Amino acid sequence: MKIKKAVIPAAGWGTRMLPATKTIPKEMLPVVDKPIIQYNIEEIVAAGIEDILIITNRGKSAMEDYFDRSPELEDALIKTGKERELLLARDVSRLANVHFIRQQEARGLGHAIWCARRFVGDEPFAVLLGDDLMKSQTPVTAQLVKTASETGASVVGVQRVARELISKYCSLQVVPAADRLYEVKQLVEKPTPDQVFSLFAILGRYVLTPRIFALLETLPPGHGGEIQLTDAINLLCKEERVLALDFEGRRYDTGCLTGYLEANIDFALARPDIGPWLTDFLTQKTTKK
Ligand code: G1P
Repeated sequence: MKIKKAVIPAAGWGTRMLPATKTIPKEMLPVVDKPIIQYNIEEIVAAGIEDILIITNRGKSAMEDYFDRSPELEDALIKTGKERELLLARDVSRLANVHFIRQQEARGLGHAIWCARRFVGDEPFAVLLGDDLMKSQTPVTAQLVKTASETGASVVGVQRVARELISKYCSLQVVPAADRLYEVKQLVEKPTPDQVFSLFAILGRYVLTPRIFALLETLPPGHGGEIQLTDAINLLCKEERVLALDFEGRRYDTGCLTGYLEANIDFALARPDIGPWLTDFLTQKTTKK
């Protein structure tokens, strides 16, 4: 199985991050000095994938401009001899082939993915949820792609979450297959306490076979009256092998304020240019005089 395409659904309103997201798409908010979406594009490129579809909605054109060339800015940087800044501005537009389509109605994550069917065609593909930012030794998408390539199966990226939080995610019934790898038997989106199969939840990363599109096509609305990707994967695992990889790495939900701040602090601390300064600053703030 070779995975050559990736899809990033990024059509949410970002209501948990208002007022910042009133005019700025939530995926364009910076973590340290790069928009969140760029980290996810870089994660995809690190998995050897170069064709990427971002699913947006009205009011997200800043994302399209960001991955385009910026001739006026580049000219100004050339004229003033700002070579480092020129590379930073230019490299973004050379990262990958980034395509955009708009989800015309807000009908849920499953519907957003279904909008990618013509772009993806009859091939397996990766999905990265735009809010979910990862920090790991090996990029998380590369971990999933490796497992999918070796097994020929769909793979979802999972971790155990706290029992009091599982109702915000989905819950998977799994049986062990190998080290950190499980066979998926069934899934439920936003489980009530009596529906929880396990504390394993999918955290924003998937590799799926194109069979998912046919299943999404006829899927009735699920939780919240929306077409749920989880419901389609629940059907997929009855027909084809679906694996759950307990991936290595830490996931940040940048769609909420605490997750966004945690990501900013952890990513800044890991940067050699500002990490030591931030450590000192935080130590001074937290040390009682
Ligand atoms: C979505 C998915 C859910 C998943 C979660 C975290 O939920 O529907 O299955 O566990 O992302 O990646 P949302 O955060 O959009 O409510």
